[in-house]
Amino acid sequence: MAIPEYPPRPGDRQPAPHVAICNHKGGVGKTGTAQGLITSAAEAGHRVLVVDMDAQGNLTRRLRARVPEAPEQRAAASLASVLQRPALGEIERILVPCGYDDPVYSERITIAPAHLELELLSHTAGLAASEKRLLRALQGVTEDFDVVFIDCPPNLLSHQIDIAWSASDVLVLPCEPEYDAVEAARRIHERVERDRHTLNPDLAVAGIVVNRYRPNLKIHQKREKDIYAIRGDEHVCPVKLHELVSMKNQAELAQPLRADGTDGNAAADQFRDIYAWMTKRITTVMENAA
Ligand SMILES: Nc1ncnc2c1ncn2[C@@H]1O[C@H](COP(=O)(O)OP(=O)(O)O)[C@@H](O)[C@H]1O
Ligand SMILES: [Mg+2]
Repeated sequence: MAIPEYPPRPGDRQPAPHVAICNHKGGVGKTGTAQGLITSAAEAGHRVLVVDMDAQGNLTRRLRARVPEAPEQRAAASLASVLQRPALGEIERILVPCGYDDPVYSERITIAPAHLELELLSHTAGLAASEKRLLRALQGVTEDFDVVFIDCPPNLLSHQIDIAWSASDVLVLPCEPEYDAVEAARRIHERVERDRHTLNPDLAVAGIVVNRYRPNLKIHQKREKDIYAIRGDEHVCPVKLHELVSMKNQAELAQPLRADGTDGNAAADQFRDIYAWMTKRITTVMENAA
């Protein structure tokens, strides 16, 4: 599958699509899917801005974001400090390159790193327009990028999610074909319908990426049908990720899939197709919203 381009941006001033990677359930592969999509986007020649909204900072570590070495400087150089009270475009102040050796990644992937202090943002919930702080911090900055990915924590109703969704055009939902994950994905769809008017009236779910699929398992076949039933077939990525050693290693060893000698190239090729599907879905969903 070829990489389709995003729709042309009039005068090249329109911001790149902002894609939040979400599921209410933890451990379903949100950050792993984000990592695979981000490296695929870079391989396709796209300039990628990564916003790590999860206080765990897993994506920041896995992309080897070049954060300050001294731990006491890391909070001030992170998204947590920007989101306290951001000036317009302030995220620029903390952006760092991806630390992978290959310039395909290090020159095209830029990261707004997370810090544990993102947890403290909960205290600002309810302050006027506090959920619009990421949107404000990104203003103007995203013109230099083709796509923005926002990796979300496994919440549904948290302030961090309100902040992430207010700055997003679309959500992509990694989901395991298991009961709790499918219900968690369903709750995300329901909340988008219910609350988008307060966050971003055009917010839409672009679709679901099935992860850790075991096609011979009867229960996975059943849960796959449940996933299709959420919003129909075209809403689910036809490329389904299996349990892969390279997926485990991209997290554990903080490396791109293609650096893995086991099934890394096959996994990266799958992500190329998932990224192509995602760009098409985003175009469809954003055109429908317009
Ligand atoms: N398809 C997969 N094959 C093997 N390991 C996977 C796969 N998807 C996720 N993992 C592993 O499962 C763990 C949880 O995944 P992660 O992406 O961190 O989930 P989340 O961000 O949803 O909490 C990580 O160790 C990750 O490497
Ligand atoms: Mg995660």
